[in-house]
Amino acid sequence: MRRYWLPALLGEEIPAPDCPPVRVRLLGEDLVAFRDSSGRVGLLGEHCLHRGTSLFFGRNEQCGLTCIYHGWKYDVNGNVLETPAEPVGSDFKKKLRHTAYPCAEVAGIIFAYMGLPERKPLLPRYEWSNLDAAQVCPVKSYLECNFLQGIEGDFDSSHTSFLHNNNLENGERLKRDGAPALEAEETTYGMRAISIRKLGAEGIYVRTSPYIMPSFSIVPGPPTEKFDEDDIRGFRFWVPIDDHTTWLYILNMRKKPFADAERAMLRSWTTADFRRVRNGANNYLQDREQQRTTSFTGIAAVNPAEQDGCATESMGAVCDRTKEHLGYSDKTIIALRQMLLRAVSDVAEGKDPPHVIYDGRGTDFSRLRAIKGVLPAAADWRKVFEGMGPNDG
Ligand code: FES
Ligand SMILES: [Fe+2]
Repeated sequence: MRRYWLPALLGEEIPAPDCPPVRVRLLGEDLVAFRDSSGRVGLLGEHCLHRGTSLFFGRNEQCGLTCIYHGWKYDVNGNVLETPAEPVGSDFKKKLRHTAYPCAEVAGIIFAYMGLPERKPLLPRYEWSNLDAAQVCPVKSYLECNFLQGIEGDFDSSHTSFLHNNNLENGERLKRDGAPALEAEETTYGMRAISIRKLGAEGIYVRTSPYIMPSFSIVPGPPTEKFDEDDIRGFRFWVPIDDHTTWLYILNMRKKPFADAERAMLRSWTTADFRRVRNGANNYLQDREQQRTTSFTGIAAVNPAEQDGCATESMGAVCDRTKEHLGYSDKTIIALRQMLLRAVSDVAEGKDPPHVIYDGRGTDFSRLRAIKGVLPAAADWRKVFEGMGPNDG
């Protein structure tokens, strides 16, 4: 995970120069983020180098964050600017350097790189990298389980026929074939999952979805040609807070600017501190009467991620995978785990994992999409999807 740029927080959490700093926990490290007087973002170790007081309580002013205990002052790069309790002329501060991770702000999200400085890769560009602030609406939510449990749901097409069946009465496409044919293909950015459902006379229903290293995904939306005024697409980042908890960032994007009311609606399943309204402590507000009559789960979700949250958190914070019983429907998950294990051993051997990019070529992933569509049974879905414009081929 330390080989990649990861979302650390939303830009709006530190909205203005010299605003209050915020605590950030990422990859098991306690950090503090601040925006200095000139607008630069800093992400520092939470605890002061001197004797450990939390810099969360610090003064953010005059291009630095100052510890309230003895006044040590840090800049966004971790340099110690002032140690005012030391004797005049002391060069103590020049010998010190605080933990500080480089940050980049794109599409309302502040990304951080937490690996070795000499291995810092380029930040790949995706579809959202080129959109205006008005065209993106990031939604951040807390998940009480390991990140991999979460993102595996995005690479598991078969669950959508069940967990997300919100209408027990009608014969929607996902439900008509709950046992799709599955494929997983390795790509330069990670993997692509393909599911094909048979719809009888109507043809086949094909969904493709990318897994982008290290833990990002796109879930299938409408064909690209329809992404115009009203269609909303989503890009998802699953980021480990630590082994047991995860931030999910859903980056909604659309050509037409989002209105304030739409932003509020897109976020209505989360609280001001990014917790979920439906969570394990309230049994996801499951309604057993609705489960009997209306939906497979009885969890009337604003966002399908609420149903996913019930499925993945209830496995336990770190699911005991030695007790699983994997079948054909887990074909893409198995391929994904094999790729991730290979990436881990590659890194251990000193090699680069997939999608770590160092040169100027090959950072453009702005055409990467997830696509779904109904095709004639005999159609070659690869050809048809390519004809729809930019895609993930
Ligand atoms: S603990 Fe921060 S300045 Fe002393
Ligand atoms: Fe899901």
